[in-house]
Amino acid sequence: MKRGQRKGGSRRTGRRSGSQPRLLPLGGGKGGVGKSFLVANLAVSMARSGHRVVAVDCDLEGANLHTLLGLRRPLHSFAEYVAGRETDVRKLAEPTPVENLRLIAGTGVDLGSAQPEQNQRLDFLDSLRGMDADFVLLDLGAGSSASVLDYFMVSDDGLVVIAPEPTAVENAYTFMRAAFYRRLRLAMVEPEVRRLVSVAMDQRNESGIRSPYELLREVERLDPAEGVHFASVMRAFRPRLVVNGVRGTEDIRLGFSIKTLCSKYYAIEPEYLGYVSYDEQVREAVRACRPVVDIAPDSSAAVYIERIARKLAEGPGEEVP
Ligand SMILES: Nc1ncnc2c1ncn2[C@@H]1O[C@H](COP(=O)(O)OP(=O)(O)O)[C@@H](O)[C@H]1O
Ligand SMILES: [Mg+2]
Repeated sequence: MKRGQRKGGSRRTGRRSGSQPRLLPLGGGKGGVGKSFLVANLAVSMARSGHRVVAVDCDLEGANLHTLLGLRRPLHSFAEYVAGRETDVRKLAEPTPVENLRLIAGTGVDLGSAQPEQNQRLDFLDSLRGMDADFVLLDLGAGSSASVLDYFMVSDDGLVVIAPEPTAVENAYTFMRAAFYRRLRLAMVEPEVRRLVSVAMDQRNESGIRSPYELLREVERLDPAEGVHFASVMRAFRPRLVVNGVRGTEDIRLGFSIKTLCSKYYAIEPEYLGYVSYDEQVREAVRACRPVVDIAPDSSAAVYIERIARKLAEGPGEEVP
């Protein structure tokens, strides 16, 4: 199988018994913007609605998803797979205090070789598609390294978590651009086209390719068949934005402006999936190692999270009104 073909099958559907689980990665480029908090709470919310959910901590160097779900010492970990001690990914998933929700933790890392090699990473992701579950949520580490991007590219519409502050916004753009170009490069078969994509990844490249549209024209010129494929991969890439920690309408509007700018300058057409308010009860829930959707279901953060969880579970929902 070609690397570009590894991505998951069907698009958004609800209950998925008998089919592959839907893989939902949460990334965003910046640390501390709420990725792990959202993975934990979305996973709990979806599980409480009756979906079979597995939450996976892919942030091996900063693993803390287990703590947010109230598991102090997980029995198993993705790290065992990386170290070659367990090859069956299904055996890594352990129950959580929440019915229908299992966790693949990221603890117990050998700091000497914390990250899996690319092939091992891709095999792990392939195995997740064989899990007996409806949804598999992936908690990604910070940054836009190849390893983080591979996890993000398990689907074409992964979630990008953004905090309403310039540094987080900047990192989110970098993250989306990096994911987009990596996606294009892996999807292309012709070595010459792949080389062109690599050239275009450098914004100041000497070939003068300044945007994905210019890159597309170059690819079409080089190989018309690859040009058609390239354009379809470009269109399929639709990350979904979540603005976390909003304190007012200006923060809410941020999602729309990022969407517009992505479309205008980067040829990326994200969907604005939703936002979550800044809420002191989140901090209290984190301190108590409990999901906010459980201990404060009426808090504004919990209400917005439930709304996003419903959209994720119920199919192609509407964008933020
Ligand atoms: N909506 C929110 N309101 C208030 N605090 C939040 C919110 N989202 C996240 N936080 C705080 O930010 C901290 C960092 O979140 P975390 O999920 O660990 O970030 P990341 O995984 O992106 O590095 C959390 O422990 C929590 O205290
Ligand atoms: Mg985290």
